[in-house]
This record gives sequence, structure tokens and C-alpha cells, in this order.
Amino acid sequence: MTDINPSIAFVVPAAGVGARMQANKPKQYIHLGEKTVLEHTIGKLKATLPDALIIIAISDSDAYFKDLTLPENVITVTGGKERADSVLNALNYLSHNFSIEWVLVHDAARPLVLPSDILKLISQCQTTQCGGILASKVRDTIKQGTSFVENTVPRDSLWQAQTPQMFLLDELTNAVSNALAQQVSITDEASAIEWAGGKVQLVESRADNIKLTTPDDVAIAEFLIAKQLLEIDKCE
Ligand code: C5P
Repeated sequence: MTDINPSIAFVVPAAGVGARMQANKPKQYIHLGEKTVLEHTIGKLKATLPDALIIIAISDSDAYFKDLTLPENVITVTGGKERADSVLNALNYLSHNFSIEWVLVHDAARPLVLPSDILKLISQCQTTQCGGILASKVRDTIKQGTSFVENTVPRDSLWQAQTPQMFLLDELTNAVSNALAQQVSITDEASAIEWAGGKVQLVESRADNIKLTTPDDVAIAEFLIAKQLLEIDKCE
């Protein structure tokens, strides 16, 4: 076991193909300005906690990762069939090799997250000793139906889940591993914890921490990243 301080690590699932993006490469390797989506994402995590380990799950057939410029505290593991399998491989690697208390899982395809929001999540989870997720309140009126509206869903208590999602490493590893063993469908870490009967607190984040999914998102992300970089320049 290797002890590191702080006892927090990041896990970044980056083994998806991103079929809905209809690009000629996985979406984490699309360029936003001079850097790829994944380089921007890792840069945000590094800016938040410069010394924390970052475990990235990548596909066995990945042809792009080797060309990236990434910090030294990045370690790669092999991804799995679904996102949850990729996350579990990274969690198991961490559990077997390091003495880590808390883990933050963050999608490779969310390069717009702000370090200040990640720090807010960390502070709230450590203060309350309870796991949590970044999320934004639903703003639009939500309709339920197929071709016609059947119902308007009250939105007062509706949130859009984002990442990072922060949990105790042991708690999350057990929850994801047991859920997968029982073939429960889990689309994020919180759903595994909920299934296991654990608590998940909601930490409000900016709504523009979007996950790049379709081609439209790339133009929005390019604009927002350029704006963020200008703001950093102004502060320096
Ligand atoms: O496809 P989706 O947007 O839901 O993927 C969310 C994140 O999970 C992406 O960063 C993607 O690379 C990752 N992923 C993974 N392993 C998979 C599928 C998705 O690491 N098998």
C-alpha cells in the first residue's frame, strides 16, 4: 500500500466511443481550441487538487490517448463494456494499490466543470462525512408523454445529476460491484449508492457543467472553454 496525502483520488471513465457524437473519433479526443476534451477535463481536476492521483479508464483499442499531454500523476487502467465497468476497474485498482479514503468520479466528457464547484463538493462531503454529487436544478417545464403530453411533472424537487460524484472508496466499490453482480442498471455512481441504501447529498453546481453528447454540444463547449480561459488570463 502506498500512502498519499491528501487521501482523495479522481477516477475518470474515458473508455466510451460516444456514438451519439457521430464524430470520427471518441468524443473525449475532439479538440476544443488547442486541447482535446480529455486534456481540458484533466486540467480542471489538476487545478482543483494538484497532487491527487487521477486514474483514467481507457479502451484497449484506444489509438489516441498516447498522443495527449497529461500531468505525471495520471495512471491508466483498462475500461470495461459499460461506464460502470470502467469505473469499477479503476476503483478496484485504487483499492488494491493505494490507501485512499474518498474518490471523485468525473466523466471525461465534462470539460467545463469549475474547480470551485469541485472544491465545494469536497468540502461539503468531508464536513458531513456523507457522499454527494454536483447537480443543477431543472429549469424547464417538464412534460411526460410519447407523442402527446400526458402530464406536467412538478419540477420543484427535480435535479440534473452531473459529475464529479464523491463517495468513500470502500462504500462506492462495494455498491458498484454488488449492483453489477446483480445486473442492476446503474448510469452513475449515485444510482449504485441509492440502490445499496446509502445517502447521496445534492451539491448545487453551475448548469453549464454539461456532458458533451451530441455535435451541438461541441460548439457550446468551445465557446464556454474559450470564455473560461479568458477569465483565467484576466485573473493572472
Ligand atoms: O456515453 P456517455 O456519455 O454516457 O459516457 C460517459 C462517460 O463514460 C464518458 O466519459 C465515456 O468515455 C465513459 N465510458 C467509459 N466506458 C464505457 C462507456 C463510457 O469509460 N464502456
